[in-house]
Order: sequence, then structure tokens, then C-alpha cells
Amino acid sequence: MKFLRTYLILFLSAHLASAQDTILAQRPPMGWMSWNLLSDHPKEKDIMDMADAMVKSGMVEAGYDYIFLDDCWQGGRDSKNNIIADAKKFPSGIKALADYLHDKKMKLGIYSDAAQLTCGHYTGSLNFEDQDARTFASWGIDYLKYDYCNAPADVDSARARYKKMADALRKSGRSILLGVCEWGPREPWKWAAEVGGQSWRTTFDIRDKWIDVEGKGGIGIYNVIDKNAELSNFSGPGKWNDGDMLVAGLHGKEGPSSAYNATGCTKEEYQSQMSLYCMLNSPLYASCDIREMDNETKTILTNQEVIALNQDPLGKQAQRRIKTDKLDVFIRPLENGDVAIAILNKMPSPQTVNLGFGALGMEGKYETRDLWAHRNLGKRSGWSGKILCHETKLMRLKRI
Ligand code: GLA
Repeated sequence: MKFLRTYLILFLSAHLASAQDTILAQRPPMGWMSWNLLSDHPKEKDIMDMADAMVKSGMVEAGYDYIFLDDCWQGGRDSKNNIIADAKKFPSGIKALADYLHDKKMKLGIYSDAAQLTCGHYTGSLNFEDQDARTFASWGIDYLKYDYCNAPADVDSARARYKKMADALRKSGRSILLGVCEWGPREPWKWAAEVGGQSWRTTFDIRDKWIDVEGKGGIGIYNVIDKNAELSNFSGPGKWNDGDMLVAGLHGKEGPSSAYNATGCTKEEYQSQMSLYCMLNSPLYASCDIREMDNETKTILTNQEVIALNQDPLGKQAQRRIKTDKLDVFIRPLENGDVAIAILNKMPSPQTVNLGFGALGMEGKYETRDLWAHRNLGKRSGWSGKILCHETKLMRLKRI
């Protein structure tokens, strides 16, 4: 009897462990996305150079191991209806590009759309889901961003089209993550994980600006944060609220992110996007030219103490505990028992903040570390100090 019980326990725990191992995207994916910089002219040479720069700059070491090749790579279909790359843009083919990245311990994401045509009017995957998934698998693709331009507006159609592609990827024989990209109108946080997606965009495309104040168009950093702050309960390992690209380092340069008069952000605003995307567990897609990344941008994108929040194995997205006109305060638990706190100054000017941790339900004293200054602040029951316009103070607290 005792033997049987031990056997049963061992059997069950082995099976539970293997079920866990098969969760795709245990942690939010990280990498570089081609859309802003290369938009409708992605070319293999530029992507390979970018991969070299990702390694050289320390981005890969910091965790950014994907290149997400976005729209406009397609060259139609061949006589057997296999999707093919534009031979002028990718003369060596996509498989060669994937091999190049895999040799560097990197991964390749690709893009398609749940309709006949993509957002850029290139070939989409509707009615070719199985065939395209097999092609992507044969090329060695690791991730698919699946867009929703030119597709029906209702939720049921979206669910069905995303499920069809998720099933096709699962049958393809390769682990390929599915990033749902219908921009939020059909509330994908309620169904995308169920149909087989590992992440879902929550808003329309981000622009290189802080906020869209009057609803004039062009989503800014804070609009995304404000949206994702409401969606904490939907995310966890294998299912992430995707806030779109990190705009650090763009400085209002040309590209889709500069549309709607987006003229760039301050250092504090870029730092806040990084801080809060890490607190809110968004996948991290850098989008500036890594080949010419300045030091300020590198410092923002590669802060290991901040990235550690995003990649924390517990995968618990921060909750917003305080929201006033002046401040947002977020809090999240971490796997080792620590707690991370973020205080965002939303005012157009600096402000002095006094925050007792008790206001967040955290009584007593904590060993407190400032994750941007990389400094221990001692044993505290609160934090007070000046926060610059649109800056975020990010702290890690250990109970003593
Ligand atoms: C949509 C997506 C963007 C990008 C473009 C490509 O707008 O939301 O992220 O992929 O399509 O055409």
C-alpha cells in the first residue's frame, strides 16, 4: 500500500512537472522588433547587422534574444501556394536568417495576418494556416506575430481565426509562440490564452510620445500603462498583456512611431516605460537602431535589476494600488518573497512625494533598494523624495 502511494506521488509529480515544462513563454519574450526602424523595407542584411549589434551591445546577454521580423517581408505564394519571402529583400531566404540567429543563440519571430492581406497589404495566412505554419516550422521560426487587419470586426471571428492559427502552429512540429495582435477592441485578454495565444496586444500601435491627451489619435506610453494596469488578473506565465514596442532611443526619429505628431520623449519618460512594462510584465521589444544606440538608451534597456522584475519566475503582474491625478503607485510580489514598488509622477513638473508603505498594506520595515540608482536605501517604512516629471521611482523591498 505504502509502495503504491509513493509510486503514485512520483508518477503524478513527474507528469505535473512535464506539463509545466511545456508552457510556452514562461516569461515575457524579449527582443528587437523591426517595425519602427525598417517598416516596409526589412532586408536580411539589416536584420543580420542588427543581430550582430544585439550581441555586441550586450542586449542578448541582458535577455533580448529574439528578432521579431515584422510586416512587409512577404513575396506572395509559389505555384504550390507556399508563402515565400521577397527575394530582393531576403536573397538568402528566411531559413538562412533563422540559422544565422540560432547560431548566435538568438531566435526569429515572423509576422502574418488573419486575413488575405496584412496591414501593409502583403500576403496574409487566411485559409493557409496549416501550410504556413508548416513553412514557418521548416524555416526554424520561433514566434509568430499574427495581426488582424482586413478581418471581420466581431469577437467570434477573431477567436476562430486565432484558434485556427494556434492549432496549426501546435501541429507544425515546432514550438512557435503566438502573439495575438488585434489591438484590444475585442478584449483579447478574455479569450486569447484559451484559444492558444501566449500574449496579446492591448492597445493600438504605440507612438513615441508620453500621452494622447485629447483622444486625437496616437497612443502614448502612459495610455498603454493605464490600460494594462487594469488587466493584471489576466496575465501570468504563458499569457502576457503586450504593450507594444519600447520606444526608448527613438527620440522622435522617422518611422511609424513618429506618426500623429509624436516628437519623442524625455529620458524620464523612456525610463518610466521600461520601469512599468517590467512591473506589468509586458513582453519587451526594443525598437531603436541598436547599431547606433546611445548610452542613455542602453542604460535604460539593459538595467538587470529592472529586467529581473519582468522576468521574475512568479510572473505576477503588478497591481495599481493608488491612482490620483498626480500619482500612480504599483506593487507586485516576487518569487523570493521581495516586493517591488513603482511610483510614477504624472504631473507636468517635479513633485515631492511621501509614501508610507503602510498605505500599500505593507506594515513594518523593509530593506529598500532603488533599482535605477542601484543603491540600498536602508531599513524603511516608507519613501519620500523628489520625482521628476513623468519619472518612475522603482524599489525592491525585503522584509526584515
Ligand atoms: C499593425 C500592427 C503593427 C505593425 C503593422 C505592420 O499596425 O499593430 O504593430 O505590425 O501592423 O503593418
